[in-house]
Amino acid sequence: MTIRSEIIGCGSYLPERLVTNAELSKKVDTTDEWIFSRTGIRQRHIAADGELTSDLALKAANNALEHAGITAAEVDLLILATTTPDNTFPATATKVQSQLGMVNGAAFDIQAVCSGFVYGMAIANNFIKAGQSKTVVLIGAETFSRILDWEDRTTCVLFGDGAGAVVIRAGEGGPDSPPGETGHNVGRGILSTHIHSDGSTNDLLYVDGGPSSTQTVGHVRMVGREVFRHAVTNLAGIVDEALEANGLAAEDIDWLVPHQANKRILDGTARKLGLPVEKMVVTVDRHANTSAASIPLALDEAVRDGRIKRGDLVLMEAMGGGLTWGAAMVRW
Ligand code: COA
Repeated sequence: MTIRSEIIGCGSYLPERLVTNAELSKKVDTTDEWIFSRTGIRQRHIAADGELTSDLALKAANNALEHAGITAAEVDLLILATTTPDNTFPATATKVQSQLGMVNGAAFDIQAVCSGFVYGMAIANNFIKAGQSKTVVLIGAETFSRILDWEDRTTCVLFGDGAGAVVIRAGEGGPDSPPGETGHNVGRGILSTHIHSDGSTNDLLYVDGGPSSTQTVGHVRMVGREVFRHAVTNLAGIVDEALEANGLAAEDIDWLVPHQANKRILDGTARKLGLPVEKMVVTVDRHANTSAASIPLALDEAVRDGRIKRGDLVLMEAMGGGLTWGAAMVRW
């Protein structure tokens, strides 16, 4: 029997407080025009004082479980992708595990910055396929606002806070079971995942602190132009890799759900693929870059508003600090 990993529900949560570009321009030397023309960002959500990554993660996870129609008692693995854990340890995932009321299995954090969600998809898929887990909650949650240098206009305008989650369950039959009436492959599930990193580019995007180095939390530092250049190359490469692995062409993709870093990077990837921009889910204008949370936030929006439908071919891709990058091809 072939085991496949089926996404059976999704959810998300955004903190209430909205910060527009105009409001930011009162704090740092910037303008709405500069931010929007360079990034496509209009606003971002910022967590309230005392509102932690675990709070955001819990709300997104509960929302996803409700959407999937199951309870936490059925979950045997919880993976939280985050760069902004509540504490250095224990894993924020264990906090969410207890708040969720999950009593079985294990919970752990993973750290791949903005690629965290696709890394999590790869891990969840492999745990399920190996028969080690049956029901996984995968969360991407961030309070990136806590690691920004609010005096550095080159970075603080780019990021926001938020959380998104999916519930992934072991199903029977491979995703390559025969096509249904619509011509679509009826087998739902994760068709493939692809992850990469290149540690030699560590210094392009990093936080200048940490428990072992400075014993402080530190702030985000970035060589924006270089990150941009690598993003365009790496994302084009990973998308080709995912298509090739599945014997698919760009025109087979129903929805591209990219990590939301910058509208110009998103448009560049769609252009390289020859994919109409209408087939790309875009939230960067309203959420800014929420790191590991951006893909599940965008996914949840497009599933709930009816754009992504059962049987659709969905390609997710991301790049982040490390540098790390990856993709997941999913039959919804
Ligand atoms: N407001 C106004 N001016 C700003 C500014 C801001 N928020 N941030 C930078 N500037 C200025 C710079 O100081 C520079 O001024 P100078 O020419 O007088 O030195 C000028 O704008 C151009 O800066 P530059 O960094 O060359 O701009 P850019 O066109 O490369 O755009 C980014 C900057 C950050 C938007 C772009 O490089 C980018 O998107 N990079 C990828 C970042 C990313 O996605 N990171 C996360 C990956 S997960």
